[in-house]
Amino acid sequence: MEPQKLEKEFYTVFDTGGESLHYFFAPGRVNLIGEHTDYNGGHVLPFAVNKGVYVVARKRKDDKVCLYSAQKGQKETFSLRNMEAGVSSGWVRYPLAVLQLLQREKVFSRGLDIYYNGTLPSDSGLSSSAALEAVTALAGNHLFDTGLSPLQLALLCHRAENEIVGVRCGIMDQFAVILPREKRAVLLDCHTSEFSHIPFEPGEYVAVLVHSRTYRSLEKGQYNQKREGCEKSLEILAARLPVNHLCEITPEVFEQYSHLLPPDLRSLVRHAVYEEQRVKKTAAFLRKGNLIEVGRLLKESHLSLQKYYRVTNAGLDILFEEATALPCVLGARMTGAGFGGCTINLVERGKVPYFQETMAEKYSARTGLMPAFYVVTPQRGAHQINAG
Ligand code: GLA
Repeated sequence: MEPQKLEKEFYTVFDTGGESLHYFFAPGRVNLIGEHTDYNGGHVLPFAVNKGVYVVARKRKDDKVCLYSAQKGQKETFSLRNMEAGVSSGWVRYPLAVLQLLQREKVFSRGLDIYYNGTLPSDSGLSSSAALEAVTALAGNHLFDTGLSPLQLALLCHRAENEIVGVRCGIMDQFAVILPREKRAVLLDCHTSEFSHIPFEPGEYVAVLVHSRTYRSLEKGQYNQKREGCEKSLEILAARLPVNHLCEITPEVFEQYSHLLPPDLRSLVRHAVYEEQRVKKTAAFLRKGNLIEVGRLLKESHLSLQKYYRVTNAGLDILFEEATALPCVLGARMTGAGFGGCTINLVERGKVPYFQETMAEKYSARTGLMPAFYVVTPQRGAHQINAG
């Protein structure tokens, strides 16, 4: 979206005159591999995509905070003093939570107007909420000279979602929409917050997301249940082993001690332990440019999420089955929390139209749903856009 277009849209909702406008963008993210490892102290390997949330922001003269979402057609107004009261539902919880925490870093001298418009489908597992948080954090940080680094902004957004919005997500999403670079995936150690950028240039193969058109409506409850299962498992294992988080357990140690766990918990831990190995192997294969092995690991990851972690649904499993039956696909897996949303597929570049046609035909015949497709390439993280 061009700044000129955004500016026009801004003035259809807000008064003309006033302070100068500033433009920002935060992308959505896709996780290549490392699912449900972040809150288990493991590694993840996401990258930012070429869809996201745009913002036009300016300071006000009074102490009002006006937030407008073009996608929802909604304007919400607060004052700097009553932001803490918050709201209990809807999109505005995310930006508001971020602004509250930013204010604790440095008291804003005045209010602000923020106009949001996005190209990210919501509820598809591409982290539209993290993008909303990140773009708000970036705008607030810039307008009020809060002086936080990208890493500090990611941590602040994560705290906003956990402590204020009340979703107990891991740290992957907020990092994955702020830190990435173009043509790179981010290998993030969720225990230490250390990260590195790994070349991910599919070349002959491209990453194609397929949206199952099933949604994560039950996600929060089920997601938290999985987390609680992991915490319980850790408690049981830590009584016998020197272990601080599940992803530090090696496969050998797991096989030796897994009998201590009841079957449902054993199966959660099995996924976390082996998924951690797969992330590290994927990063190593990416560095060598070996996408065939990456594809194989993606398939293993899906099967583990299906069989052991149990966060896939019928739609995601059908997409996986149909995609991996095609010779033009190196690998596929569900991506994100699960329970609906998208799969990521490594597809031969020249065969993308054939892939889309075949998948649409097979998936709709089996489910009655028409999938959506997005070809995604690794992009840079949240940034300011020059007005030009
Ligand atoms: C959601 C959460 C992340 C992560 C993934 C699963 O996207 O927000 O923190 O736990 O699920 O890998």
